Amino acid sequence: MDRNLALEFVRITEAAALASARFMGRGDEKGADQAAVDAMRKAFDTVNIDGEVVIGEGERDEAPMLYIGEKVGKRGADSPPIDIALDPLEGTTICASGGVGAISVIAFAERGNFLHAPDTYMEKIACGPAGRGKIDLTKSARENIQIIAAALSKPIEDVTVVILDRPRHADLIYEVRKTGARIRLIGDGDVSAGIATCTSDSGIDLLLGIGGAPEGVITAAANKCLGGDFQGRLKFRNAEERARAVKMGIKVCDQVFKLEDLARGSVMFCATGVTDGPLLKGVHTLSDNRASTHSIVMRSATGTVRRVEAEHNFNIKPRV
Ligand code: FBP
Repeated sequence: MDRNLALEFVRITEAAALASARFMGRGDEKGADQAAVDAMRKAFDTVNIDGEVVIGEGERDEAPMLYIGEKVGKRGADSPPIDIALDPLEGTTICASGGVGAISVIAFAERGNFLHAPDTYMEKIACGPAGRGKIDLTKSARENIQIIAAALSKPIEDVTVVILDRPRHADLIYEVRKTGARIRLIGDGDVSAGIATCTSDSGIDLLLGIGGAPEGVITAAANKCLGGDFQGRLKFRNAEERARAVKMGIKVCDQVFKLEDLARGSVMFCATGVTDGPLLKGVHTLSDNRASTHSIVMRSATGTVRRVEAEHNFNIKPRV
């Protein structure tokens, strides 16, 4: 894959972040998400790819834009075939309430390299480079915390586990607390929390718990670029969800998907902050009709991680 694509794609996440950030704290989840989707969809038209959305806003009948299977990009004769996993606004509730860590995100790979994850839940474990190849979703929370503590050479009491604050996690939270590890409960946004396990200044060592499956694939792609790890197992709420997974090509529904099963080969990832968070600063409005954005751009092939800080002058280049 052409490495320059990563920088092309960051313009797309910037556009989506700038559009949705205007809705920050306004209590309008739908409006924030729609603004991100519209801006991202429009920005895709400028990129020379033959893109196909494999993780997107949902099935074609439920999402008019950026749905699974939608073709995006210029799609010329010389355009490289690319599969895209995206979330124009990861953390709609966060954005609507002006909370912490909403991002706009795109991961991409050569055709056929992302797991086509259905829109179900996924049990997840994510960690940074120290725990790579050591964590194991089939083991208990206690065992995985012990693994991370040993890998990071710190006592269990210094390990911080991030978990989505949901009633379904009551037993998990109880089990983690019994180990003595510390917990950071988050309201939403397990993509940026999962990625934050790979950045030493985030203070987060391990992500455990159940969140969205599409978000799992995106987190896996990012953690691959950062040298971390991720495993996931689909969790179905009913027979219909299980049937949908089978229809989408999942052969063994209870399989533990490892990083390579979720994001194969060379992958690239970019994200732009919408609201301030552990991974990225959000969109900040500046004087004179300008705004700043903070993005991260990464490639698994080289392990290069770029942080892109941009100032946008809407007097010269109007918003999308
Ligand atoms: P949205 O951006 O689609 O609102 O997702 C936010 C999120 O918190 C994800 O980060 C997470 O994977 C999922 O929702 C958890 O789902 P639920 O809110 O149903 O527990």
